[in-house]
Formats: sequence, structure tokens, C-alpha cells
Amino acid sequence: MSISFSEETSEEIITRSSSLPEDSNEGSLRPRTLTEYIGQEKAKGNLEIFINAAKMRNEPLDHVLLHGPPGLGKTTLAAVIANEMGVNMRITSGPAIEKPGDLVAMLTNLNEGDILFVDEIHRLNRAYEEILYPAMEDYAIDIILGKGPSANSIHLDLPHFTLIGATTRSGQLTAPLRDRFGVSLRLELYTPEELQRIVTRSAGILGVDIEADGAYEIASRSRGTPRIANRLLRRVRDFAQVQSDGVITAEVADAALSRLEVDKLGLDALDRRMLRSIIELYRGGPVGLETLAATINEEAITLEDVYEPYLLQKGFLTRTPRGRCVTRRAYEHLGIAYIGQQEMPLS
Ligand code: ADE
Repeated sequence: MSISFSEETSEEIITRSSSLPEDSNEGSLRPRTLTEYIGQEKAKGNLEIFINAAKMRNEPLDHVLLHGPPGLGKTTLAAVIANEMGVNMRITSGPAIEKPGDLVAMLTNLNEGDILFVDEIHRLNRAYEEILYPAMEDYAIDIILGKGPSANSIHLDLPHFTLIGATTRSGQLTAPLRDRFGVSLRLELYTPEELQRIVTRSAGILGVDIEADGAYEIASRSRGTPRIANRLLRRVRDFAQVQSDGVITAEVADAALSRLEVDKLGLDALDRRMLRSIIELYRGGPVGLETLAATINEEAITLEDVYEPYLLQKGFLTRTPRGRCVTRRAYEHLGIAYIGQQEMPLS
């Protein structure tokens, strides 16, 4: 395939993309090896085989698509893969690639075996996706320089690289792009026990004194998400330091998290507002996502990607053909008398 390409290269994008796009202050807490990486056992088990096989064959790893809700460690896992493969990783994101030249510059600056990590790959401009097809399949791109009769085409071989794409919505990837990933791994919300191990590990790195019950209290209120668990750990540490003797016990964690408006099951103020709105304004549902988003002044995509996965997992919300419904369990959790007539869920 060919692309038009104005000759400017994109130093900017390489600089911009060299810092981690998310939770950059979590850097020190990130695991560096598969052994250190807690949870996601299924994904990890398969990855270990693929990494070992690629290393035995002395080949780069096949292209990997990581999908699942935000905050589950997709960037972290990509860095772990790079470390395990013993290669460098370049980081960029779909929306940061503003012109074809940005992508070409990233690709041509890779070294043999390197990993190119594209976060939010579903937001990559569809027209630029086509640059990736031959790059992924044949490690090559064709570039057209200039316009009209004087245009010149040059064929560029690329180093053998691995593309790792991360997305919260794999359904939004085009089929041709999705099909070019040889490995597709779905990351799941973490169990409280897994998060307890992550919190305990992070506390050790941060030098925070934490009891097992204290770690469990934070873990069970972190919506299945390590990024939230690590953030809450830091906040609870503040309370423990100022209001107690610095040790995070279950009581200290409970008091701190209550003050942060994170309830016993990990729901925050927006979760509760969303459930209450469905109950109070739509008699428990069904209500369409867009209508609900407008009601509570949030983006529909944020509700769907950030809030719903946990509420669905906890059984507080169902999706029906006519919209979202809250469940009896949600009424009970919020202490509201149950009146709703639920529809059959879609799945
Ligand atoms: N920190 C963030 N995610 C982690 C994970 N999955 N394992 C260990 N530490 C983490």
C-alpha cells in the first residue's frame, strides 16, 4: 500500500510519546517481570508460552492486542513483555498520531525487535490504519513523495518489530486491523484477593506499614482496578500518617475510604449518582445510555468504559434491549425500597 508523506519527520511525537501516557506517578509500583505481575493468570500463562517460543526461535513476538477496561495494567503488561523479550519499547497513542508522517516516523525509528506500543488504538485515524497493514504483515511501507507526475515512490523496509495495541473497546477496531494481531488478550477486573496482593506489594515498595486486613479493605473497595487500588493506598497512607500511627489497619482504611466517599463495595459518588438517577428519574430503567449520560452530565463513553464494567460485575446494573436497568441489589445497597420491574438482560 502507498501513502502520501510530507517529508517532515516527527521529533515531537517521539518526545511526547516517550513518557507514559497514563498513571505516570505509578512508575515505581509497576511490576517489571511476569513473575512480579499479579493476576491476569490466563493472559499471563499464554503470554509466557508465546514469549518463550519467540525467544527460542530468535524471532520478535507476534503482534499483540490487549483489551479490557481502563486501569487494568495494559501499559504495564506491554512494558513487562518488552522487558521479558529484552527489547526496547516506544510508546504512542491513537489520538497522538495526527498525521501519517507521525506514524511513519515512529515505525522507521524502531530498532530490530523493538516493541511499538499504541495505546487507545481504536482512536487511530482510519486512513492511517492502512500504513500499519503492510508494516505489520511484511515489515515494509511504501511512501509517495511529492504530487502528480513528479511524484516518487520509495519502498522502505522496516525492522522486525512487535506492535502492541491497547484498547478499551476492541469492537471499535476495524476487522482488517484486528485480524492482523496474532495474539489477542482480554484483561479482566481483578479479584479482591489479587488486589490485596498488589496493595501489599505496593505498600512494601512505598515503605508503608500495612496489615493484611487493611490491604484487603483497600483491595475490596478498588473496583477491581490496580490503578485505583494504588491511588487509594496513597490516600489512606495520608490518613494513617496524620490521624493515626502510620499503620494501615482495616479500621484506618475504612475510616479513610469513607471520608473519600468510597463505600463498602467500592462505589464512588458518581456510581451512586448514576444508580440513583436511574431509580429516581426512570423508575429503575430501562433508560438509554445517551439519555442517562445527559442526565448526569457525563460522556456516554465514560459511563460505558469506566463505570459500567464494575457495576455490571457487581450485579447492580443490567443491559437490556431497551436500555440500562438497576437491579434489586442496587436498591438494597442504596437503602431504597425496591419498586422496579426488571426486563430480561441481553446477556
Ligand atoms: N501494579 C499495578 N498492576 C499490577 C499488577 N498486575 N501486578 C503487580 N503490581 C501491579
